[in-house]
Amino acid sequence: MDQPLRLGLAGLGTVGTSVIRLLREHEEALTERAGRPLRLVAVSARDQTKDRGVALDDLEWFSDAEALARSANVDCVVELIGGEDGVARSSAMAALAAGKSLVTANKALLAAHGVELAAAAEANGAMLSFEAAVGGGIPIVKSLREALAGNRVTKLFGILNGTCNYILTRMESEGLTFEECLAEAQALGYAEADPTFDVEGLDTAHKLAVLTALAFGVTIDKESIFVEGISSIAPEDIAAADELGYRIKLLGVAQETETGIEQRVHPTMLPKDSNVARIAGVTNAVAVEGDFVGSVVLSGPGAGGDATASAVVSDIVDCARGFRAPPLGKPVANLRPYQRARMRAHSGGYYLRLTVPDRVGAFAAIARAMADQSISLDSIVQRNRPAGAAPRRRSEELRAVTIITHDTTEQAVRDALRRIEAEGDIVGQPQMIRIEAL
Ligand code: NAP
Ligand code: HSE
Repeated sequence: MDQPLRLGLAGLGTVGTSVIRLLREHEEALTERAGRPLRLVAVSARDQTKDRGVALDDLEWFSDAEALARSANVDCVVELIGGEDGVARSSAMAALAAGKSLVTANKALLAAHGVELAAAAEANGAMLSFEAAVGGGIPIVKSLREALAGNRVTKLFGILNGTCNYILTRMESEGLTFEECLAEAQALGYAEADPTFDVEGLDTAHKLAVLTALAFGVTIDKESIFVEGISSIAPEDIAAADELGYRIKLLGVAQETETGIEQRVHPTMLPKDSNVARIAGVTNAVAVEGDFVGSVVLSGPGAGGDATASAVVSDIVDCARGFRAPPLGKPVANLRPYQRARMRAHSGGYYLRLTVPDRVGAFAAIARAMADQSISLDSIVQRNRPAGAAPRRRSEELRAVTIITHDTTEQAVRDALRRIEAEGDIVGQPQMIRIEAL
């Protein structure tokens, strides 16, 4: 039997403790698959006294994760701390600089410094693996880097955040509030340490940035992604979507256009009968369109300790086998600079929900502002008082107006809304949700 692969694990939270349990429960099978034992020798976290439900007695404890990364007793560093900078970044760089393999689930780190990390791995003959960073247990990173390497990818989209999909599913199916659903997702270990990253779309953007690089062979550019989260989605939007035959999902989309690659993250109305609209709860799904393969959809658990540990351990097994691949699918020198397609040129259908004073001409003014931007309306429906609004005198009553447009541009919709607001034809903020035909 070959020498054991000595593992140093930094981060003993939801994912880290699941990785330890998996390594122990499947020790024999993993040794057979890897061709050598996988031996956890060192760990690091902030609080050494915390009971984590896993025995740590025979492991070397490091209060400094960077020191663990440098330890001569460790061959492969597994970074499960999180965060784009700080000790996650310094320990990752220390591991690669020392020529050690690095396994990480940290998409924030990769989205910010992935190219730098990949270059460091190449320069030092080290391996950088991050299957767990995108889509939890779904093997999307290896699929893009290896199994789909023969294709030119034209579009990639998916549900990339388990917390948001869990929240939207529970709001729709159980009628719970946003806050109740988020608390559940946190208790189940799905959410980031700061759940703003989940609900404001940033976590999805981090994952999309990494997938875009892998799929299109370009540098990572998270700053160019258009990002909107789900915190403004109201129960009345979910109900309206349902009535109109749609379901709302937080989608990450990367798409080749004539001017560059469009990268966007936002709540999206999807036809209820589409594959991706049916994805419920913590499940994620990623669809990839390749020129030779056609359309491939992968789905599975997108968050949670055990599902994520499954992906982390697959990388550890690769590492024990001595598998090598360029981390971003190409040597860094061959990545093309990312060229952004502007969001304002985005074309598609839109759902708009406006709160309108019940007075003569208000409805017509809205229709006129749309027509003047050449926006063709599929439907425009005026409902009774908006949800939650108290009865008022007739002259002050409010009405909820729901509009579905035919395909138009983001620029046209924004210009029309700006005019409607400026002319005082609506009360409060308009709601705008993009429709994806699929
Ligand atoms: P978590 O439960 O918050 O655990 C983070 C761990 O990092 C804790 O054990 C914490 O120590 C440790 N830590 C924090 N600061 C440290 C420092 N300065 N030095 C050493 N250790 C430190 O997070 P998680 O959910 O397991 O996520 C870990 C990583 O996996 C993140 O990058 C996350 O984005 C990613 N991820 C998570 C999931 C998921 O479903 N949870 C899925 C995919 C990817 P203490 O315990 O002592 O405080
Ligand atoms: N917070 C993330 C999510 C964890 O909910 O999808 C998985 O990356």
